[in-house]
Amino acid sequence: KKKIAIMTSGGDAPGMNPAVRAVVRAGIYHGCDVFAVYEGYEGLVKGGDLLKQMEWNDVRNYLSLGGTNIGTARSARFREREGRLLAAYNMIRNGIDALVVCGGDGSLTGADLFRSEWPLLTQELIDTGKLTKKEVEPYKHLTIVGLVGSIDNDMSQTDATIGAYSSLERISEMVDYIDATALSHSRAFVVEVMGRHCGWLGLMSGLATGADFIFIPERPPKAGQWKQELTETCHRHRQKGKRKTIVIVAEGAIDDQLNPISSDDVKQVLVDLGLDTRTTILGHVQRGGTAVAYDRMLATLQGVEAIKAVLEASPEIPSPMIGIVENKIVRLPLMDAVKATKSVAEAIENKDFDRAMELRDSHFAD
Ligand code: F6P
Repeated sequence: KKKIAIMTSGGDAPGMNPAVRAVVRAGIYHGCDVFAVYEGYEGLVKGGDLLKQMEWNDVRNYLSLGGTNIGTARSARFREREGRLLAAYNMIRNGIDALVVCGGDGSLTGADLFRSEWPLLTQELIDTGKLTKKEVEPYKHLTIVGLVGSIDNDMSQTDATIGAYSSLERISEMVDYIDATALSHSRAFVVEVMGRHCGWLGLMSGLATGADFIFIPERPPKAGQWKQELTETCHRHRQKGKRKTIVIVAEGAIDDQLNPISSDDVKQVLVDLGLDTRTTILGHVQRGGTAVAYDRMLATLQGVEAIKAVLEASPEIPSPMIGIVENKIVRLPLMDAVKATKSVAEAIENKDFDRAMELRDSHFAD
C-alpha cells in the first residue's frame, strides 16, 4: 500500500487546511495510507508523534478553518544535511516515500533538494548501520509534489497561490473599513500590506479599493520624482472633491534605485501636502482567518491533483508543482517555477523592472 505524507511549511496561508483535507481524502479514496507531518519539516526530522496517520474523519471541518491545523515551522535543522538524514530515516521507518508539501518557494526548494539527495541519504543510513539494505530496498526513490501555499502570490508560472485571494479579500475589507473613517474626517491613510518582495497583494488591493496611489516592488517609481508625483496625484484627487486619500504601500516597496520606500516616508509626503494622515499596518490579520471560496476550491482541486501526481510519479519525471493556469489545474516542473521566481528577484536587483513584471504570472503582468 502506498504511503504518502502531507506537510504544510513556511508561513501559514488560508486554504492550507482545505489542501490537507483534500490530500488526505483523495489519498484514502485511491487506496493509500496518508500521514500528516506536524510542525513542517521539524516533524520529519523529529518523527515520533509528529508523523500521524490520518483517517477520513480526522480532517472533518477543515474546509472552513484558517491557518494550518497540522502546524508549520521554519525548521533550521532540515536545512542541515544531518536533519535531512534523520528525516529520511523517519520516513523509511514509517514506510513513506512520497511527500506532498504545501508551502512557498523556499519550502518547495527544500523538498526538491531532499529528493535529489535521497539516494545518498539512504546509502548513508545503510553504511552507518541505522537501516539494513533490505529495509531501504523498497524506498529507492522519493516522490515530491508541491502545492503552493502563500498569501504573497509570488510563485511564477501559476496564476494563484493558495491563500492569496483570501488575503486580498481581507485587505480589501479592511481598506473599506478605513475608508469610512477616512471619509468622516477627510483624512489620508497609508495602508501597508504584506507580500514580502511581491507586489501582487498591494497592486490588486489597490485596484479593488480604488486607492489613490500604489507602491509595489516590480513597478518602482523614480527615486528623485516619486514624492512630487504622489503629491500631485493626491492633490488632484482632492481638487476633484475627494474627501479621503488612500495610499497602499507593499512592504517590499522600493524606488527605481532600489532604496526602500517605507510607509513613514509616504506618510511624510502626505503630511507635507497638508493632509491629516494616519498609517495602518495591517499585519497578520491579512494571513489569519478562514479561506475564501476560491482558495477552498483551489486547494481542493490541487490537493486531488497532487495525489494523482504522486501515483503517476516516476524517477524520470522532475518533481511536479501543482499550479493553476487560465483556470486549469496543471502540473509544472517544480524547479522551473522556482527558478523563474528567483529570476524576478534578480531582475529587480538588476533594475530590469519590465522583466520582473513579465516573469510574474500572466494576469499580474497584464
Ligand atoms: O510569506 C508570507 C508573509 O506573510 C509575508 O507576506 C511576510 O513578509 C512574512 O510572511 C511575515 O512573516 P512572519 O509571520 O514570520 O512575520
